[in-house]
Amino acid sequence: MGFRSAGRLFGVAATILSSFTVDVLAAPQPKAAWVRGARSRLAKSSKWNSKRELSNSSQCEQTSPPDFKAPFENVWARLTDDEAASVAAWLFHQPELNLTVSDKAGEWDNSLLLVELMVPNKTDVLAYIDGNATAPTRYAHAVLDIRATEEPTYTDILVGPIPVVNGTTTWQPLEYPYTRKTGGSIRNLDADSDSLYSEHIYKVSASIADITMDLWGGTALGKDNDTLDIWGIDPVWQYDGKLTRWDTFWNLPNDVFDAETLLPLGLFFKSDVTGRDPSKWKLEGWLYNDIFYPTTEAFRTAYWSGNFTKLGANVEGDWARTDQDGPVLPMDDQSPPVAVAPAGARYSVDHEEQYVEWMGFSFYLSFSRDTGLSLFDIRHKGQRILYELGLQEALAHYAGNDPVQSGTSYLDTYYGFGPYAFQLVPGYDCPSYATYMNTSYYVDETTHTHINSVCFFEFDADYPMQRHSTSSYVANTKNVYFSVRSVSTVGNYDYMFTYSFHMDGSIHVEVRASGYIQSAYYAHNADYGYHIHDYLSGSMHDHVLNYKADFDIFGTDNTMELTTNVPVTESYVWSDHPRNTMKLKRSHIKNEDESRLFWDFNSQTQYRIVNTDVRNKYGEYRGYRILPSDNAIHLTIQDSSNLVNSANWAKHDLMITKRKDTEPRSAHAYNNQDVYNPVIDFDEFFNGENLEQEDLAVWFNLGMHHVPHTGDLPNTVFTTAHSGIQFMPLNYFDTDISKQTVNMVRINYNDGNVSKVKTFGQEEATCSVDLSQQEPDLYDYQGDVVIRKFPYDPNDPYFETDSIV
Ligand SMILES: *[C@@H]1O[C@H](CO)[C@@H](O)[C@H](O)[C@H]1NC(C)=O
Ligand SMILES: *[C@@H]1O[C@H](CO)[C@@H](O)[C@H](O)[C@H]1NC(C)=O
Ligand SMILES: *[C@@H]1O[C@H](CO)[C@@H](O)[C@H](O)[C@H]1NC(C)=O
Ligand SMILES: *[C@@H]1O[C@H](CO)[C@@H](O)[C@H](O)[C@H]1NC(C)=O
Ligand SMILES: *[C@@H]1O[C@H](CO)[C@@H](O)[C@H](O)[C@H]1NC(C)=O
Ligand SMILES: *[C@@H]1O[C@H](CO)[C@@H](O)[C@H](O)[C@H]1NC(C)=O
Ligand SMILES: *[C@@H]1O[C@H](CO)[C@@H](O)[C@H](O)[C@H]1NC(C)=O
Ligand SMILES: *[C@@H]1O[C@H](CO)[C@@H](O)[C@H](O)[C@H]1NC(C)=O
Ligand SMILES: *[C@@H]1O[C@H](CO)[C@@H](O)[C@H](O)[C@H]1NC(C)=O
Repeated sequence: MGFRSAGRLFGVAATILSSFTVDVLAAPQPKAAWVRGARSRLAKSSKWNSKRELSNSSQCEQTSPPDFKAPFENVWARLTDDEAASVAAWLFHQPELNLTVSDKAGEWDNSLLLVELMVPNKTDVLAYIDGNATAPTRYAHAVLDIRATEEPTYTDILVGPIPVVNGTTTWQPLEYPYTRKTGGSIRNLDADSDSLYSEHIYKVSASIADITMDLWGGTALGKDNDTLDIWGIDPVWQYDGKLTRWDTFWNLPNDVFDAETLLPLGLFFKSDVTGRDPSKWKLEGWLYNDIFYPTTEAFRTAYWSGNFTKLGANVEGDWARTDQDGPVLPMDDQSPPVAVAPAGARYSVDHEEQYVEWMGFSFYLSFSRDTGLSLFDIRHKGQRILYELGLQEALAHYAGNDPVQSGTSYLDTYYGFGPYAFQLVPGYDCPSYATYMNTSYYVDETTHTHINSVCFFEFDADYPMQRHSTSSYVANTKNVYFSVRSVSTVGNYDYMFTYSFHMDGSIHVEVRASGYIQSAYYAHNADYGYHIHDYLSGSMHDHVLNYKADFDIFGTDNTMELTTNVPVTESYVWSDHPRNTMKLKRSHIKNEDESRLFWDFNSQTQYRIVNTDVRNKYGEYRGYRILPSDNAIHLTIQDSSNLVNSANWAKHDLMITKRKDTEPRSAHAYNNQDVYNPVIDFDEFFNGENLEQEDLAVWFNLGMHHVPHTGDLPNTVFTTAHSGIQFMPLNYFDTDISKQTVNMVRINYNDGNVSKVKTFGQEEATCSVDLSQQEPDLYDYQGDVVIRKFPYDPNDPYFETDSIV
């Protein structure tokens, strides 16, 4: 992703949709006969199939979820339009803030960057949802961009109570959720981002325009006819009391495709950009083909000396475009399988409160600028399992022989997962029958609503939940699960976030990555990536995504239990010889001195949140296990020169702290502005506190060690770029609760004859599905809708979708 944001047109391709109907009931009729036998008792509580008429003329009913109400107000929901507008208006009236509206704000004006809900303290929420207290008073979290000063800052403030009442509402610096105690302020390294280009980068580029024309036939001067772009490291180097940048040239794509990050050109320059006076910023050298030239003059002299090795350029072509290419595969032009939901939604959604129930599970949704979607108060049959589950931060740490790849360690909440959680494409991102929800975020005195940016759907997995065969019967249970999904496209990358709930009580957290890689110029980078195109290296990088899982297993007093398989040599009364075998070793995480963990060697340890006061009838603790399901990794680089203290959550796999109202998040969106002294230094959460029967926060990492290869061109694919973790009930229920579903079957047979097909009350779909009705009209895709907040203009929404680069 680049340094700047800009509006961009979105190309929508039309697909010709086939129009035909299929009959859902294709299965042959089961026999109704029942042979008496030892297992006939199973019949008591169940229904048996009988022959019935096919009503293949009736259409499947697409019922919308029943109209129902959440048990309580969603205290994590975004501010309403009226609330956000009133807070913005009130802040503009506070003379000491000296705010200028964003449209008119220049680099030396203060402006209001963000107004959002201040997520209430868990302590106050529990008093409301578990006790008799009223809903917590609402507060807004606002971010000020203080630039009318030599020392610009981003400042977090707390505004409230809301609704705003003149004389009662106040603002105060926000400090309690951060480890850094500097009045909610952190220095702002972006204050002069416009001048950086106009007063420095384009001037540097102009000074070698003859060389860029000669090498690549183009210029980067900030003009409409630029065919080159320039951007570089993130975060900037913050050593020695200076700010140092490395930037590089990229070819611009000349069509709708976002291929710029595949088009590096291999020329780099270093700049000292300390301070706010552009006249003091200076170029400190050039790098090309691993040769450093300390001045433009030295570079220019070498370039035109007649003895300069010119390397090739990466140029856009079909190789960098995602449209279909190559001969059509056999039968691929025929319609692939589709999923349908013949009975409509089998879940309930309260759109007003953003609350969902499915098969005993329930939860609330929350959405923020920084981290996008989170889930709160996840319960099973009314019993809370997790108070909070959501993304905290995601980093992409690159490496390379060149300074731009070496200096790149994106901390993506700086850009935000909320602003880029675009509308989902029905039939592609989610099944066409999914239910959708809108999400909103605030920027520049407007709120942008991403239409249909969260989807909910049930899906029948391609494998059953359970099966067993003998010579006389086979039993089999369908694996129907429920997912909540959103996709955030942060610059070049598309992160697909999915939370899935299963009939056995397990919860799966997954992330997948697609989109364009950020690649490197190939020269001298062979140790840092594969050579993947003409002059291109697939720059190696680690993605690490940190999540918070605030478990509440039968209340807030919880303990992490470790159960390890250990190899032992053991003597037994019944054996003459000692035996080499294994046994279980159980232990607890006692305190925060021992709570930063790596997944055990050979997956030999089970990590489980239990409540040691709550045992099942066999005396075992009831709890939920935390089970990495694939690629749950941490950062390879140790003591990163780029990140310093700003992403200390990335060093381990699984971390447990005492949950506190003062430690709600592991990272802050502006941690990259002062990597030595970030707003939230996760290491400071660990101060030896007791973790036995305390309210625990679990922080875990997902990610990928991504070494892009030719299969990442033009885009990385979700099939292999994925990571996940499961929370599974372990001795939590007395049995496998998926037995409760009626979507199972038992077939009794012998000598080649089926004597019985036992079903359990599952209605068979006998309607027909009109696929032409199922297929969404992709011309309905709209992008984001925007409502102006100051001045407030709720009745004049307009469409505008922003993306990075
Ligand atoms: C179902 O449709 C088929 C083909 O149109 C027809 O032959 C059959 O009679 C129909 N069955 C019922 C029960 O309507
Ligand atoms: C308020 O901001 C303006 C720039 O928008 C600046 O010129 C002025 O000095 C500031 N006033 C105070 C009191 O800081
Ligand atoms: C809630 O109120 C009821 C009746 O006033 C009282 O008996 C109960 O203890 C209260 N519960 C809590 C958690 O305060
Ligand atoms: C608060 O006061 C400002 C001016 O002092 C006024 O414009 C605004 O309407 C008042 N807001 C409310 C909610 O009374
Ligand atoms: C771009 O346009 C400017 C005039 O605005 C012109 O001077 C320059 O030569 C053009 N550059 C290229 C690469 O065509
Ligand atoms: C050309 O450059 C190479 C390395 O950059 C150097 O070794 C060589 O001496 C140069 N030749 C001339 C003729 O300058
Ligand atoms: C989403 O937003 C659009 C545009 O404002 C609106 O028409 C639609 O009703 C919203 N959907 C829901 C589920 O609220
Ligand atoms: C949340 O809890 C912290 C720590 O007790 C407290 O300082 C803060 O004021 C509380 N925030 C709100 C909005 O009540
Ligand atoms: C099974 O079916 C076959 C042919 O349909 C029949 O000959 C045979 O007697 C049946 N066996 C039993 C045990 O019913």
